[in-house]
Amino acid sequence: MEQKSILYERVGRAAVITINRPERLNALDSSVLRELDSALSTAEADREVAAVVITGAGEKAFVAGADITEISKLDVITAKDFAERGQSLFNRIEKFRKLVIAAVNGYALGGGSELAWACHIRIASRNAKFGQPEVNLGIIPGYGGTQRLARLAGRGVATELIITGAQIDAEKALSLRLVNSVVDKAELMPAVLKLVETISEKAPFAVRLALQAIDAAFQLPQDEGMRVESQLFALSCGTSDHKEGTTAFLEKRKPVWQGA
Ligand code: COA
Repeated sequence: MEQKSILYERVGRAAVITINRPERLNALDSSVLRELDSALSTAEADREVAAVVITGAGEKAFVAGADITEISKLDVITAKDFAERGQSLFNRIEKFRKLVIAAVNGYALGGGSELAWACHIRIASRNAKFGQPEVNLGIIPGYGGTQRLARLAGRGVATELIITGAQIDAEKALSLRLVNSVVDKAELMPAVLKLVETISEKAPFAVRLALQAIDAAFQLPQDEGMRVESQLFALSCGTSDHKEGTTAFLEKRKPVWQGA
């Protein structure tokens, strides 16, 4: 039977998406990108899914980059399509309506780092390693790395990482605020699933609006971002969950969310 490049599993309210090419350290080839896109659609359509978790199969890697065999065959024309395809998938992740958590369980290099940067939250195991080694291959990041890393870590850190191709470990990534937390390898999935459990108790539509408002902070000047925030805040106050959440607080009981 043909091996699937992506495994999809429901664990409680989480959709766990595992990139499954361990023999290639989960390198992103075109079938991974296609199946990842389709797994995201499954998670999006499932109302029981509160958050998506992306991780890598095997002991060594989250994702060790875009597939170098595919990259070696690119020319000026096909490279643009190649980059835009990856960018569009990672943009979809960044703007996803449900929380997306990268559970970084090993090497996250090149396209693997770029995938992690596109997720809303990154939790890393102690053995995780991050880097943008594209300059070692005579290319630059093409799946959003130059843009997202510069926004996440600032210009100096992004420049150093991208033009040296250096790898940094999980603790260093934490000190640069590139990851939210670092845990022992055995604790990675329990920690991520605990976070998903916490989120599943919150008003789902409010979570979605909050993700949208935070995204505006990365896309827009602050004054425009403020306008987006006040519009989304107003929208949240028109929901039945707003009535339920505030009433439940005043009645000293747990809210029962409608998701609208
Ligand atoms: N694309 C395609 N194949 C890859 C790959 C990638 N990005 N990363 C790893 N592989 C393959 C290796 O070629 C090797 O295949 P083989 O068994 O047929 O020789 C296999 O995965 C295992 O990797 P290996 O290099 O033997 O593991 P290692 O533990 O010695 O080294 C890394 C791990 C991550 C340091 C090393 O694999 C590496 O540098 N990978 C490329 C990272 C990179 O440049 N990514 C950015 C791409 S734009």
